[in-house]
Amino acid sequence: MQPTLDHPPPSLDHLPQSLVEDETLAAAGALRVAWARSNMPLLAGLRAEFERERPLAGRRIGMCLHVESKTGVLVEVLRAGGAEVVWTGSPATTDDGVAAALAGAAGIRVYARRRDSLADHHEHVERVLASGPDLLLDNGADLIAGCLRREDSRVTAATEETTSGANRLREELAGAVPFPVVVINDSPLKLLFENQHGIGPAVVDGFLRATNSLIAATTFAVVGYGSCGRSLARTLRALNAAVLVVERDPVRALEAAFEGMRVRDLAGALREAHVVITVTGRPGIVRREQLLGLRDGAMLANVGHFGTEIDVPALEALAVRRTEVSPHVTEYQLESGRTVRLLARGEMLNLSAASGHQIQIMDLGFALQAHSLRELARTPQGFVPGLQPVPAAIDRQLATEMLGTLPTVELGT
Ligand SMILES: NC(=O)c1ccc[n+]([C@@H]2O[C@H](COP(=O)([O-])OP(=O)(O)OC[C@H]3O[C@@H](n4cnc5c(N)ncnc54)[C@H](O)[C@@H]3O)[C@@H](O)[C@H]2O)c1
Repeated sequence: MQPTLDHPPPSLDHLPQSLVEDETLAAAGALRVAWARSNMPLLAGLRAEFERERPLAGRRIGMCLHVESKTGVLVEVLRAGGAEVVWTGSPATTDDGVAAALAGAAGIRVYARRRDSLADHHEHVERVLASGPDLLLDNGADLIAGCLRREDSRVTAATEETTSGANRLREELAGAVPFPVVVINDSPLKLLFENQHGIGPAVVDGFLRATNSLIAATTFAVVGYGSCGRSLARTLRALNAAVLVVERDPVRALEAAFEGMRVRDLAGALREAHVVITVTGRPGIVRREQLLGLRDGAMLANVGHFGTEIDVPALEALAVRRTEVSPHVTEYQLESGRTVRLLARGEMLNLSAASGHQIQIMDLGFALQAHSLRELARTPQGFVPGLQPVPAAIDRQLATEMLGTLPTVELGT
């Protein structure tokens, strides 16, 4: 059912206005959103179009995407298009200032705090779904999975941002989704620019901010050589790290070897590496037995979407002493006398310890989101139920527009 004047979105009276950490952080958060906005030309162009066309008027978007400055600009664009937005993020990646700044704006509700536990996160997801959204903007498929369990769902279409969400939809919920889901991750623009160019520098930023530690002449193990792992391995190598790659798919492992990476099995990499970073999109990659195989003093971090790639409860159980060395480094002393340093509690290092992908890269990624939501609202008949990529015409249009924004590009008129 498309919302119309006869079928407006349901009342929100039963839900809290917003749930954020500290409203006094709003002014600082608004400055960070303004900085991002001033570096997002694609979204600025879309915002002007959305203000004229109001393609999302009367629509309520349920959103689960990191609450931080670039996402704040996307939310402003969706508002300019006429949508109401009910928003939560992911555990450990919320910028409390941005949450406070946006929670104060008309038509936006925010349920997110940086300190949220997984249980808090699930409660926020339920709040977003209880608001009765008719469009979903998801990241990790929590909202889509949740709406399929509800009898009162009004959802007519959705977008899914990331690899882990797309995997979950394909493997756990295959065939069960009765409405169109545009998988932003499958866009060549997202894979090439965000996963392959955005993530390496962003993770290095997170590593440096968390540890202030040397990269050159340090041995890193990158576990998972997909588009994100490849970007990370290449970036580390460019900074003169020794890079070990662990990859279960033989074709990708071969690709890593041909690129000059040192391919190892997991046990071998854990014995050798000073820093181990998981980026597989799969749970339980570093479990109890692997934790016991780490070298003394090893650092351990995750970049995959869910904070379950490293079994943190197992690490807690193995530890005889736990020290919070700094906001993003927890040191565990094991019974064997070895120490293991966990970065960012095993949550996404680039978003927990740093500011996520570069602004211009997210300008492109979020322009894909806004275009896709506009098309889903405007021409629903152009989509089929189930998963599908971003329409190719949107990819081409955005690539052309982005070429026009880059200072290093000169094209004939
Ligand atoms: N932190 C961020 O900002 C950010 C951004 C984009 C994507 N992500 C997430 O990063 C993760 C990886 O994304 P991707 O697009 O590279 O995924 P991908 O599926 O292309 O690559 C993952 C790779 O890991 C390998 N793998 C899986 N299990 C393994 C195991 N047990 N041992 C060794 N290798 C294994 C797979 O064979 C695959 O090659 C996902 O969770 C994605 O959602 C995070």
